[in-house]
Amino acid sequence: MSEKKHILDYDTVALDDEDSALVIIDQTQLPYNTEILHLKTQEEIWEAIYKLQVRGAPAIGVAAGYGIYLAAKSFSTESYDEFLLLFRKAKDYLNSSRPTAVNLSWALNRMERVVTSHKDLPVKEIIELLHKESAAIQEEDIETCRRIGEYGLSLVKPGDGLLTHCNAGQLATSKYGTATAPMYLGYERGYNFHIFADETRPLLQGARLTAYELMDSGLDVTLICDNMSASVMKKGWVNAVFVGCDRVAANGDAANKIGTSVVAAVAKYYNVPVYICAPTSTIDMNTPTGEQINIEQRPAEEVTEMWYKRRMAPEGIKVYNPAFDVTDNNLIAAIVTEYGIARAPYTQSLKEIMRKKEEAEKLKQK
Ligand code: MRU
Repeated sequence: MSEKKHILDYDTVALDDEDSALVIIDQTQLPYNTEILHLKTQEEIWEAIYKLQVRGAPAIGVAAGYGIYLAAKSFSTESYDEFLLLFRKAKDYLNSSRPTAVNLSWALNRMERVVTSHKDLPVKEIIELLHKESAAIQEEDIETCRRIGEYGLSLVKPGDGLLTHCNAGQLATSKYGTATAPMYLGYERGYNFHIFADETRPLLQGARLTAYELMDSGLDVTLICDNMSASVMKKGWVNAVFVGCDRVAANGDAANKIGTSVVAAVAKYYNVPVYICAPTSTIDMNTPTGEQINIEQRPAEEVTEMWYKRRMAPEGIKVYNPAFDVTDNNLIAAIVTEYGIARAPYTQSLKEIMRKKEEAEKLKQK
């Protein structure tokens, strides 16, 4: 009899064996159904990102990379100019699926650079290079998360209580997650962390995804409602908060799932450090502060009726449903990246992180 597969045995995002479809776990169905979707067209991929069937900043970036490769493969032209035109149209379209996670445009821009820097090659060969680049985005994501995990782990000690919000887990990346990377590495090394997962209203990524993937992997996780963080912190049960993010501005302000800034403000009050785990693909040096981050607004139904057997709010009620909020840099103890740990003043430390990244990339090209 074959053993039951664990949720993390599935790839969050992948290309199928024929390189003809993007394969994702439909995250809106978790934890009850592990439904695998095969997406072939730009429209299907756009919709999957918009509906959060694939979600989490790094996973969105990986999906966009594979998505634009699949789109490029479908263009029936051998003319470079025509190809570039179609490529840019598809890029703008995929980029419009969600506005806040910068990984989406980061991955699409990276793919576009492959096209524009090889104008002299036949279109067929450019498509091959796009394939390689999309796979590289995914491979790098795995290594990036592992390194974030190592740096994150250096900030805590065995037996600590850790709190996280939303899902910045493996389901949001290609492996390890960002905020969960120190948790998984710590688990492998016998750290015995006690983890609190906020349920994360309105779409319950904490309850449906984080609690699920951590528990299914054997970690000690306790689910709490979003309004319980003060209660567990007051009891002294939380030594550190690890969260992911969708966009870090140049001054260290960080946009993440709605409610993150509430946790951070409460943590500051109780002297609990808040660590933002951010691959450099999530750091946007072109956005000066959190003020300029475009915050996605989502449909009212997510608040009033989604996940309930019946509607839980009066018909016609006004609803405000921003999907993200910005945590001010003065509430953040450190930003943990794959190139090290940045601390205030972030305008300087993030520049230094980006400099290290550039240097590492130059070395790789040699
Ligand atoms: O709306 P979602 O589920 O895509 O929001 C996800 C988050 O807010 C994550 O914390 C963030 O994308 C980082 S994932 C490593």
